[in-house]
Amino acid sequence: MARILITSALPYINGIKHLGNLIGSQLPSDVYARYMRAIGNEVMFICATDEHGTPAELAAAKAGKDVAEYCREMHAVQQDLANGFRLSFDHYGRSSSPQNRKLTQYFAGRLADNGLIEEVSEKQVYSHADGRFLPDRYIEGTCPNCGYDRARGDQCENCTKQLDPTDLINPRSAISGSTDLEVRETKHLYLRQSKMRDELDEWINSKTDWPILTTSIAKKWLHDGDGLKDRGITRDLSWGVPVKRGEADWPGMEGKVFYVWFDAPIEYIAATAEWAEAHGLDDEAWQRWWRTDKGADDVKYVQFMGKDNVPFHTLSFPATIMGSRDPWKLVDYIKSFNYLNYDGGQFSTSQGRGVFMDQALDILPSDYWRWWLLSHVPESSDSEFTWENFQQGVNKDLADVLGNFVSRVTKFCRSKFGEVVPEGGAYGEAEIAVIKAIEERVASYQANMEAIEIRKSTADLRAIWVLGNEYLQEAAPWSKFKEDPEAAAAIVRFALNLIRLYAVLSEPFIPDAAQTMTSAMNAEGAQWPTDISAALESLPAGHPFSVPDVMFAKITDEQRDEMQAKFAGKSKAAELAQS
Ligand code: MF3
Ligand code: ZN
Repeated sequence: MARILITSALPYINGIKHLGNLIGSQLPSDVYARYMRAIGNEVMFICATDEHGTPAELAAAKAGKDVAEYCREMHAVQQDLANGFRLSFDHYGRSSSPQNRKLTQYFAGRLADNGLIEEVSEKQVYSHADGRFLPDRYIEGTCPNCGYDRARGDQCENCTKQLDPTDLINPRSAISGSTDLEVRETKHLYLRQSKMRDELDEWINSKTDWPILTTSIAKKWLHDGDGLKDRGITRDLSWGVPVKRGEADWPGMEGKVFYVWFDAPIEYIAATAEWAEAHGLDDEAWQRWWRTDKGADDVKYVQFMGKDNVPFHTLSFPATIMGSRDPWKLVDYIKSFNYLNYDGGQFSTSQGRGVFMDQALDILPSDYWRWWLLSHVPESSDSEFTWENFQQGVNKDLADVLGNFVSRVTKFCRSKFGEVVPEGGAYGEAEIAVIKAIEERVASYQANMEAIEIRKSTADLRAIWVLGNEYLQEAAPWSKFKEDPEAAAAIVRFALNLIRLYAVLSEPFIPDAAQTMTSAMNAEGAQWPTDISAALESLPAGHPFSVPDVMFAKITDEQRDEMQAKFAGKSKAAELAQS
């Protein structure tokens, strides 16, 4: 049994996430966590809301709420939606937790002790029209790297380059649009990550098994002239982790907070501490996941994130961890994703374009979305959501293949043999051939899950379902039943056992349908198969089962058009409002 620590990039607290966000990190990480648990590993699966920074302050102001109150409410909303999509986090924390405050201040103190923090007099953008300093995200302008004209002050969304607000060409306030900006002087802390270039370079070079998407981004910014330049880690805001040096005050830093990107990844650790507290456990309980001097040596730590998050996770956060010179666990593998586009354009939170998590669950159950998104996960390149493609994927894979198989087998059995597994003789040639084919596919499925090749895993799983369907079609127990009820019974027994096997194998991807199959087969506690032929003898003759309700309803053309129109209307309106 191995120990696997899994984290998914922390969603910003402001607003509900769209399906592109969901498939860009949380959903694939959930599949991986469920799979790792299913094969018997000890898993710690962590996520949290990323609550600090100006976006939270602004969203709260817009909602007319106190920022702490706003975050509390939005955390509950996001937690609810995570539950709705069956995201199986062991803990869904909050970066505003006391645990994170303490750890963030601790890390800053360690970095300072190790000479990795510099106090710098910084020029900062002040907006006269808005009457405030404008931190990073609230300044928009043209990217000096690629020319994108809506780059934000912290990062260019188009080319992923990390920016400082003063880098922007033709800067304007993102709040008021005002260009009446003035640069003023104020003192800030900088993380001297440039001093760690060799260490980071060596570390990244040692990760030969990482996905190309991850290492190419990491190396690009590592070797780019200023990709690893020292970064300001404090801000003039009131909402955030107050700047302290460990437990001590930091002279000159009164009233300032740490930059949201400094405290957010530390929340991976802090959320595990929150988990321990929530379960009444001591520090050892979370430290055995995070401290190599407390047993985390044998932990495999895997991070999931969208490609725009890669620079922070391959450079800045490791610089924080390494620079502490404490035995913290570093990430072992970073799985990153491209973008999912929406119907010929981009999903956009600011423009309300696309389908958002709450809307999706209002329309259809989570498994429909999980399956389609996971089988189209933007792994090797960007991918696109269209309603037609969604309809096709759901109808073909879920309704026609899996759902139909379960329904035909259980209904046929009930009508001819009653709601118990029928006897019949031993499995014959046809069944043995199916067993062999499934064995091969399961081996491939497992290898792909091990390698976190999510899309390939869905192809394997689909192929395993298809094998059962084809078998049933060929074996045709309904036509054999008259002359040879014995043979028909064996076919049905085999097929019912296939349903039980499908429940176990499908659980990481479509947990609700898996539960439906498990309950129908009366097979609670079914284990991941190590021997397929033995697994297909699990339900003996006489074992009671029940016919489940329709597992997947087909999406009709009318429904599809209706949904498409509904969402097109919304985005059109948003586009108009935008222009
Ligand atoms: N909130 C960030 C985003 O959505 C991700 C933060 S990941 C963390 O892009 F680890 F840094 F928290
Ligand atoms: Zn750019």
